[in-house]
Amino acid sequence: MSVSKPLPHDAACLHVTGAARYIDDLATPADTLHLAFGLSTIARGRIEAMDLDPVRAADGVLEVLTSLDLPADNDVSAAAHDEPLLSDGTIHYMGQPVFLVVATSHMAARKAARLARIDYSEQTPILSIDDALAAGQAFEPPLEFVKGDPEAAIACAAHVIEGQIEIGGQEHFYLEGHVALALPQEGGDMLIHSSSQHPSEIQHKVAGALGQPFNSVRVEVRRMGGGFGGKESQGNALAVATAIVAQQTGKPVKMRYDRDDDMIITGKRHEFRIDYIAGFSDEGRITGVSFTQYCRGGWAQDLTLAIADRAMLHADNAYHLENARITSHRLRTNTVSNTAYRGFGGPQGLLGIERVIDHIAHELGKDPKQVRDVNYYRPMSDAAKETTPYHMEVTDCVINEMVATLAKTADYTERRRAVAKWNAENKILKRGIALTPVKFGISFTLTFLNQAGALVHIYSDGSVHLNHGGTEMGQGLFTKVAQVAASAFGLPLTAIKITATDTAKVPNTSATAASSGSDLNGMAVKAACDQLRNRLIRFLKGEYAVKSQDIRFEDGQVRISGHETLSFAEVASRAYQNRVSLSATGFYATPDVAWDRLKGSGRPFYYFAYGAAVSEVVIDTLTGENRILRTDILHDVGRSLNPALDLGQVEGGFVQGTGWLTTEELVWDDKGRLLTHAPSTYKIPACSDRPAEFNVHLWDKGLNQEKTIYRSKAVGEPPFMLGTSVFMAISDAISACGDGRSYPALDAPATPERILFAIKAQQGREGA
Ligand code: MTE
Ligand code: MOS
Repeated sequence: MSVSKPLPHDAACLHVTGAARYIDDLATPADTLHLAFGLSTIARGRIEAMDLDPVRAADGVLEVLTSLDLPADNDVSAAAHDEPLLSDGTIHYMGQPVFLVVATSHMAARKAARLARIDYSEQTPILSIDDALAAGQAFEPPLEFVKGDPEAAIACAAHVIEGQIEIGGQEHFYLEGHVALALPQEGGDMLIHSSSQHPSEIQHKVAGALGQPFNSVRVEVRRMGGGFGGKESQGNALAVATAIVAQQTGKPVKMRYDRDDDMIITGKRHEFRIDYIAGFSDEGRITGVSFTQYCRGGWAQDLTLAIADRAMLHADNAYHLENARITSHRLRTNTVSNTAYRGFGGPQGLLGIERVIDHIAHELGKDPKQVRDVNYYRPMSDAAKETTPYHMEVTDCVINEMVATLAKTADYTERRRAVAKWNAENKILKRGIALTPVKFGISFTLTFLNQAGALVHIYSDGSVHLNHGGTEMGQGLFTKVAQVAASAFGLPLTAIKITATDTAKVPNTSATAASSGSDLNGMAVKAACDQLRNRLIRFLKGEYAVKSQDIRFEDGQVRISGHETLSFAEVASRAYQNRVSLSATGFYATPDVAWDRLKGSGRPFYYFAYGAAVSEVVIDTLTGENRILRTDILHDVGRSLNPALDLGQVEGGFVQGTGWLTTEELVWDDKGRLLTHAPSTYKIPACSDRPAEFNVHLWDKGLNQEKTIYRSKAVGEPPFMLGTSVFMAISDAISACGDGRSYPALDAPATPERILFAIKAQQGREGA
């Protein structure tokens, strides 16, 4: 069976040979027009006067559009109708698209876009979390989840700590930037190629902008060069812009952001600040905790509410909190509109409780692992009916056994002793080690999104054509889903033709997001394949007078007990001759999920994915530089659909998570200008930043207790949060720098500068 084999990504050869086609590689007709946005140069204010004549006069420019030239909706928002394609006169952030240049080449459009003369009346921008709080700028009133009586529990706790952590944002840095190509069809119809995780939303926004019904717009996505959440909603502007100009001119139109523009225009991971108060016992058991999460949403709502919700939903991580209050502020600022990014707020929420655990351990002089151990949800076999702060029962907890296994294979206890010995003997280089867990909820919290469709054809030569609503961004979804189809028919993977995601084949799809791509689309494809197989079985039963169980699909053949063995091609051909339909749609809706976000109660997740990591780091106390010496990971993917792809997701997720918490720093100046808008100043991890020793394993006991596709678990986002182990290990190394009396304040990302400041603070206290 194809499922569960470590098969390579279907496009692996195409990727490494450069033959994989991205939108920028598609051959375009000679008369294709190119677009660029003219961007605002202030962060907040109004446009008083705009002189676009120099832009119009520039070489190669055919036309310049402002918001007044748009045919219908001037809106590219995901939901809230608060994101104009082109500024309506108000400026919300520096880099906001103000006008649109139409030119004969990409370079001509970009050069001309800089020639506008715009007079603004400027206002002081609201940039920081504090600015937004002071100005009362929020997308909705604060939301709160409460369980038990946290204040009373904290008041009578044996120990209490209080603290705060600032958590930086993150640029997606997909290798392929945003791009769209609009090809006008007859009768006003439009075909769009878009680098989007959400083709249906592109379809809807383009239709809205053209003033046409959805059925006149077709969106195709073969693959993205990475999305990471950054292409859930942020591609709308390019698709809409190209469609409008294509409609007006009747010509093909293409737009792609240059890397700097991409970084300046598009939203990023949300910055957070988390305040905490926790009460706990002598053993470190948390008896009451209160978190206040402040989330910087940027200028437009985008997906901020759902992201802030998910941060709240992960404030417990893997720990059973009997008394908890989680308050969330969704703040509006004059910065890029922050958006989905791997983990969707979960990583930020999780970092809050991990900080609390670490702080408690420091306060009690314990190994943080011991404090974690006494706080985990109990194992599923205990049927403990322990609930999350949002009152969902946790019935599938496997973290205890995973942590115990990992601690053993990673030699945690012995190495912790060795680290202490090293630190006692070395003054300049200090080491740190940490073991951190992940529990991540799987499902869209907007319940209706948990659905998917598929379309499968068997041609009369036995070859199979596969389509579903999910998009490929490198994660290997297309391969996994093709494995499901191949297994259903007992065919090799090569017999399945993987095709581009297409809104004309499968309609009304959800974004490929929330890690649920294979859960949802795998099931929808299986449903379609099962129908087709049942039709073939019914046909063969009639032909051979046998029972269903006498017919087996394996090795590309159809074996019929007591009769001849047929090739799958022969069966397909004969079924066709006998007028059996060889095409089917499949549909899947996740069962048993229901969630009321305002009440903070229900079952938002179908199940949880678990993982744990041990990282050991070394820091240089003179420079703040740091290295990951070794990382060991144990991650639960249930029964893996494809262990090779899953390991890739775990490794990649971990590295991206460590980048977020260490090297990747976004810096804005006090005018609201993004200073880190290119790889020269924004540092993603390089190959040389990966752990010197990196041991990654999938949990061999992994099994989804829910009836997911072949009992697998989603893998896209959860491993991202394993990067927390590196942050906590750095914090551990810093605490070895002073007398260890006070808890080292360390914000994320732990850049060399921050590490150095924290070391100085520790040493200063030692001197005092
Ligand atoms: N892996 C690669 N290589 N490229 C990506 O863009 N996106 C991540 C994750 N892994 C991403 C990736 C994010 S944010 C999500 S939600 C999931 O993949 C989406 O795909 P899935 O649902 O099929 O796991
Ligand atoms: Mo992923 S952040 O849900 O696209």
